[in-house]
Amino acid sequence: MTALKMTISGFVFLQILLFLLSSFAPPTNAQGLKVGFYDKKCPKAELIVKKSVLDAMKNDPTLGAPLLRMFFHDCFVRGCEGSVLLELKNKKDEKNAIPNLSLRGFEIIDNAKAALEKECPGVVSCSDVLALVARDAVVALNGPSWGVETGRRDGRVTNINEARSNLPSPFDNITSLVTQFKAKGLDKKDLVVLSGGHTVGNGHCPLITNRLYNFTGKGDSDPNLDTEYAAALRKKCKPTDTTTALEMDPGSFKTFDESYFKLVSQRRGLFQSDAALLDSQETKSYVLKQKNSYGSSFFKDFGVSMVKMGRIGVLTGQLGEVRKKCRMVN
Ligand code: HEM
Repeated sequence: MTALKMTISGFVFLQILLFLLSSFAPPTNAQGLKVGFYDKKCPKAELIVKKSVLDAMKNDPTLGAPLLRMFFHDCFVRGCEGSVLLELKNKKDEKNAIPNLSLRGFEIIDNAKAALEKECPGVVSCSDVLALVARDAVVALNGPSWGVETGRRDGRVTNINEARSNLPSPFDNITSLVTQFKAKGLDKKDLVVLSGGHTVGNGHCPLITNRLYNFTGKGDSDPNLDTEYAAALRKKCKPTDTTTALEMDPGSFKTFDESYFKLVSQRRGLFQSDAALLDSQETKSYVLKQKNSYGSSFFKDFGVSMVKMGRIGVLTGQLGEVRKKCRMVN
């Protein structure tokens, strides 16, 4: 009897010990990513990346927005595995797909990676550099910070057609946007939260010419675009203008804040894909809730959804490789 009691209490003790050990273990998601993956392997990794971003943005603060966008464009094509950085001799790489032609800041990634290779050669992947850079760029734009999960490895494939077919278009409606996000494991909340990335940066005239001049082929404008705003945009974008840049969040396009949601709620979102957020109950109610900074959960939500986006199709463990240079496979 006493022996049985001892076996039971030993078993209970073991259970408690296992529970305690698992509660203190650093959080790791199912795919093997974790915050602080480089803490032992390359303790200065995150600092080195941050310095590269801050140095670059000191000279050119407008780089923050394209650096954030770059991570989104990497993750939506083949997952967050650095394929957006690869270059092929025949130019049939993701970089040369139309939506990626306006990406900028690749040299910042190269600089960060070169500094990392000096500090700890062959350790930090280019895909993790992209994830860290996106966070550091948002912080530098006065936005929120979040713990970036790392431990990704780099892919070896890039394909122009995959970028064409996997990146959402500014002409997409809500059904199409929801479907495309769902295909990447992201829900409606992630869609509306991550669209808030449009609180910084620029778009270009040709992407809204139809909204301003010929929405249904009858010389009309988009009824979902505020008429006053449409008139102001027509002054900036003549029908054949292919080059003029437009602030997506006029007046605060260099500051990461919740004003994007205010604009969208006033039917002043720049793209059809921004306006579309008012066409589903769930995304609309989020837009309306966030439009005032008071009580807004946007900053917290953005970090959560960025972490979720950063898990799309990652390569971990023995998969892929850690590239020596981000523009080419080893
Ligand atoms: C929901 C689907 C989305 C669509 C259809 C979309 C589309 C676009 C387009 C067309 C541009 C303008 C490109 C140009 O004319 O140069 C743009 C810019 C931008 N996008 Fe998105 N986007 C989406 C989601 C996102 C997400 C999820 C993020 C990041 C979390 C993001 C971040 C940005 C940023 C920061 C810019 C400004 C880039 C710059 O200033 O160079 N976008 N987006």
